[in-house]
Amino acid sequence: MDVQTQLKVLSQLSSGFLDNSSASAANAVKVPVSEFTCKERLEQERQAFFRDTPLLLGLSTDLPDNDTYFATNETGQPLLLTRDANGKFRAFLNICRHRGAQIAPLGRGRKRRFICPFHAWNFDNTGELIAINRESHFGCADKKDLGLTELPCLEANGMLWVRPSVGSSFTEADVMGGLSEDFGNWLKDEHPFAEEQVIEASINWKLAIDTFGENYHFDVLHKSSLANDIVGNLQTWDTFERNSRMVFASKEPFKYVHDHNIPIEKWPYRDVTLNVYFLYPNCIFLVDPAGVDMLKMYPDPKDPAKSKTYHTYYLRPALLDHLKKEGKTALEESRFLGFNKVVVDEDYAAAATIQTGATSGAQDHYIFGRNEPALQHYHNTHREALGLAPLEPLMN
Ligand code: FES
Ligand SMILES: [Fe+2]
Repeated sequence: MDVQTQLKVLSQLSSGFLDNSSASAANAVKVPVSEFTCKERLEQERQAFFRDTPLLLGLSTDLPDNDTYFATNETGQPLLLTRDANGKFRAFLNICRHRGAQIAPLGRGRKRRFICPFHAWNFDNTGELIAINRESHFGCADKKDLGLTELPCLEANGMLWVRPSVGSSFTEADVMGGLSEDFGNWLKDEHPFAEEQVIEASINWKLAIDTFGENYHFDVLHKSSLANDIVGNLQTWDTFERNSRMVFASKEPFKYVHDHNIPIEKWPYRDVTLNVYFLYPNCIFLVDPAGVDMLKMYPDPKDPAKSKTYHTYYLRPALLDHLKKEGKTALEESRFLGFNKVVVDEDYAAAATIQTGATSGAQDHYIFGRNEPALQHYHNTHREALGLAPLEPLMN
């Protein structure tokens, strides 16, 4: 984010802070409850969003050096991301070309060669099949044709994007939609990987995204937790094609700069805000003073009422430097302790009650208010991609 944009955002937040206003959509809209319950819709989503669309899977720092890898099944396809001996990023199906075993163990690690644990076919991190164990049994198999299946991928602005199906490539503009500068700035100082967790929840994957999409609820649901830190019902709102950005105001710092009449140009942007990005189709990305959170929401393959959130946390380099000066190498307490008290115990618990009501079939629609513009945007971008009409206004 450039300085001018930061000033614009701060000035919008400052006005809202003083006059109790916030970003607004044109209308309140109706959202069909079937968005969260329909099995046919789930099938369409799995193909359109989790096979055919590039997904943000990690940051460049998930492959911190040459000859490192990251293997994950989170999208439903076994995926292997590698950085080769020359630093080039590639993505493959983590599926052996012999009989399909996963060649790389799940997680992060260092390897130039992957030896399949089943019969020891040997691949290098550029995908090439190097050796077939007892090759003579395979007749005239040509190793050149039996490399790992490569997937379209892109490394840009410190981010790793992969489309989990074979096909044509995609560009930075396709996935960033105008947010390159924001992320280029946030991630130009490398944020190293700190920790990860998987949250399993009895909620549709879009309900998980929705819990991050407004702060109208902060003073109510989070009255004893997050409302102490963030100003409720105050946000900026900007869209970048299918992506979007909300910025919230941190309570104490905002109060301080206003009480002390500090000129807006002097406000330390990152220390007085919480930046919440939606990166199409399934990622919430948070930027706060201490680090960045990547939350990737995935549907259960069969049950629209279940999802998994893959949550990865990366530390801000300045914080790491500070810790090092104090002789520590990492945070003494997991980020997830406090995070889960809010997101799992409050947000996802409330969302589970929404899911129960939706699954009961008792009501046919819910409502997104004008002060919930991000929710309208998430759902409309998904609907547009599936060829569905935008959400209907509640009234004109
Ligand atoms: S499945 Fe990989 S070597 Fe046989
Ligand atoms: Fe919340």
